[in-house]
Amino acid sequence: MWEHHTAHLLQWTGERFCSDLTDEPAFCRVLTVRDLTKHYGPLVALADVSFSLEPGEFFGLLGPNGAGKTTFMSLIAGLRAVDRGEILLHGKRFCPDRLEQRAQIGYVPQELALYVDLTAEENLRLFGQLYGLRGSLLRERVAEGLHAAQLEARRHDLVKTFSGGMRRRLNIVAAVLHRPQLLLCDEPTVGVDPQSRNAIFEFVEKLHAEGTTIVYSTHYMEEATRLCSRIGIIDHGKLLALGTLDELLEELPFTEQIRIARNDATAAQVGAFGEFGNVVATDETYVLRPRAGLHLSEFFAAMERLELPYRYFTVTRPTLENVFLHRTGKSLRDA
Ligand SMILES: Nc1ncnc2c1ncn2[C@@H]1O[C@H](COP(=O)(O)OP(=O)(O)OP(=O)(O)O)[C@@H](O)[C@H]1O
Ligand SMILES: [Mg+2]
Repeated sequence: MWEHHTAHLLQWTGERFCSDLTDEPAFCRVLTVRDLTKHYGPLVALADVSFSLEPGEFFGLLGPNGAGKTTFMSLIAGLRAVDRGEILLHGKRFCPDRLEQRAQIGYVPQELALYVDLTAEENLRLFGQLYGLRGSLLRERVAEGLHAAQLEARRHDLVKTFSGGMRRRLNIVAAVLHRPQLLLCDEPTVGVDPQSRNAIFEFVEKLHAEGTTIVYSTHYMEEATRLCSRIGIIDHGKLLALGTLDELLEELPFTEQIRIARNDATAAQVGAFGEFGNVVATDETYVLRPRAGLHLSEFFAAMERLELPYRYFTVTRPTLENVFLHRTGKSLRDA
């Protein structure tokens, strides 16, 4: 896949004919996909995915292993052929052979796309050249990239001597040297420590603040929650849900959960908890999903009457994990 990626950049020589005619006015949307479908033999990796991105959106594609995230990214990056459906970039039909369209896209592949026998600086120079940068602009962007990746002190070291986090940071800055309007980040934080993860978050947040539209795939709901203004949940190639975090949470049949410490005192009152909703016992807690319309104050007044201390209870908002569970019947982690 990685060789594929560079090979594609190297092919930036000619443009094939590609019809512009679409029914979408140009520039209103950065990206539109309609009925996007991809098979690998009999396996349907992506099935009829349709949505649009407005300029400046930070869109999260959240799904477990094998959901179809990389397949989606690779179609938008023009690395794989679409089987059915279409991709529009700024209202124009996307044709991967078109230089001016490819220049609008930056792609951070899930598999590191770096030459380990070159230095950090040599890698960035090479990528910059592949994107058509030359002279002082190339030098400027390489210097900015090394700074953003916090690798100035290691600029002359071979990438094979870098840690996983350092490679990940370099992998991202390499994708934005040409200042793309649309950045595709495919699980950019996998396998990095919290410090590098934060550096990556800050970098993509800065790009977003500067106006870059971002598609960010992850199977960490915490990342999608923190970074993304809109989230699509994908599983088995299908887009199961799409919306802001609040919109996705609103579709759940419950709003809060109450976690109750599991001990002798609470075990004796499980029946009383059950009057307020559905109770599920886990190893250390009872999880109460309050019935619709319940005011939590009613529950806590009852607990006071039972003389159960407040420290036994924690109220938690539902998460994207609950949305995923609600949609698929399984957890994001074990999907
Ligand atoms: N080149 C390929 N040939 C055959 N099947 C493939 C190929 N690439 C992916 N698949 C299959 O397509 C499905 C979607 O894979 P994809 O890599 O898009 O998932 P993903 O969401 O990126 O997963 P992960 O979180 O593990 O990266 C999986 O069932 C995978 O096994
Ligand atoms: Mg993937």
